[in-house]
Amino acid sequence: MKDSFGRTIDYLRLSVTDRCNLRCRYCMPEEGVSALGHGDILSYEELLRVARAATVAGVRKIRVTGGEPLVRRGIVDFIGELSALPTRPEISLTTNGLLLAELAGDLKRAGLCRINVSLDTLREDRFLRITRREGLSRVLDGLRAAEEAGLTPLKINMVPIAGENADEIVDFARLTLRHPWEMRFIEFMPVSADVGYPPESRFPAAAIIEELSRLGILLPISRSGPAGPARLFHYAGSPGRLGVIPAVSEHFCGECNRLRVTADGRIRPCLFSTEEIDIKTALRSGASEEVLLEILRGAVQVKPERHRIGEADFSQGPRGMQGIGG
Ligand code: GTP
Ligand code: 5AD
Ligand code: SF4
Repeated sequence: MKDSFGRTIDYLRLSVTDRCNLRCRYCMPEEGVSALGHGDILSYEELLRVARAATVAGVRKIRVTGGEPLVRRGIVDFIGELSALPTRPEISLTTNGLLLAELAGDLKRAGLCRINVSLDTLREDRFLRITRREGLSRVLDGLRAAEEAGLTPLKINMVPIAGENADEIVDFARLTLRHPWEMRFIEFMPVSADVGYPPESRFPAAAIIEELSRLGILLPISRSGPAGPARLFHYAGSPGRLGVIPAVSEHFCGECNRLRVTADGRIRPCLFSTEEIDIKTALRSGASEEVLLEILRGAVQVKPERHRIGEADFSQGPRGMQGIGG
């Protein structure tokens, strides 16, 4: 699908739940958010119909997100169904890793290609502080299980927050000296209401790069594959890579290839859209694939040129990260 700015949209991010087994401070308040009811969220069958229509329209990559996608019952079978779609799209998943040790092998066998794991600290006390839950060792077991299962290349997402975990950037970067992982540092995006950190907590990409440079000379890697949000580097001789995602300061909107669908059946043309397009009503009134295709194409047509974080007319919209899936 081509949008009105000439970008090719071939990547769908499908959120399967807004629930999560962590309570990361930058994402949700302690009490969680009012989770969608069972009838509000799309069934797997409905999600599959959306995914199938998207692949007919040219989507080649589908990333399953949440909340935390692995808390939804039946997720392994759903991954199996997605990967068996006639066009054989590449299926990936973004997870907090808590349930990965149990599920990595089954997910791989079901056809999952890759995973991205969110991990913001390597210290147990900070894990508890940031996510408000215990579980660092389970996530580390999950990383090992994912690697053994062949869910590679493994990407790890860290959101550095000034005064909280930004002093661990070098510790995370050091992991790339021993492991063939892509360690990504994401600029904090002020998108969720009522989160524990004010906008000043953002640790800008330039500061991330400065931190990374303390460990060694950063050698840039030019991107060969399709455009992603990360600027890539590595240290000489290291098996792993470093990614910096300047989500706010240096938006990559010009190369954006994404469309998002939320668990309650709304298409978000942009991560920061205030406008959402309903596809659930059509799904529940027995719409044909042709109609679903029209809705998807219509959503692509209203995809904005870029986000406007930091500008006077930026408004956040009511949906937090856990309801969008990043
Ligand atoms: P791959 O490139 O397929 O590995 O996925 P990804 O890096 O886009 O996915 P992931 O879920 O790991 O997201 C990493 C970070 O990039 C998250 O903080 C996302 O919110 C952010 N991100 C992903 N897509 C966009 C986007 O279109 N715009 C912005 N500003 N940030 C994005
Ligand atoms: N800013 C930047 N990244 C965020 N994520 C969640 N909320 C934010 C935010 N406000 C990241 C998570 C996860 C990915 C899907 O999005 O760490 O890795
Ligand atoms: Fe859960 Fe992800 Fe939000 Fe953390 S950032 S609370 S892991 S949805």
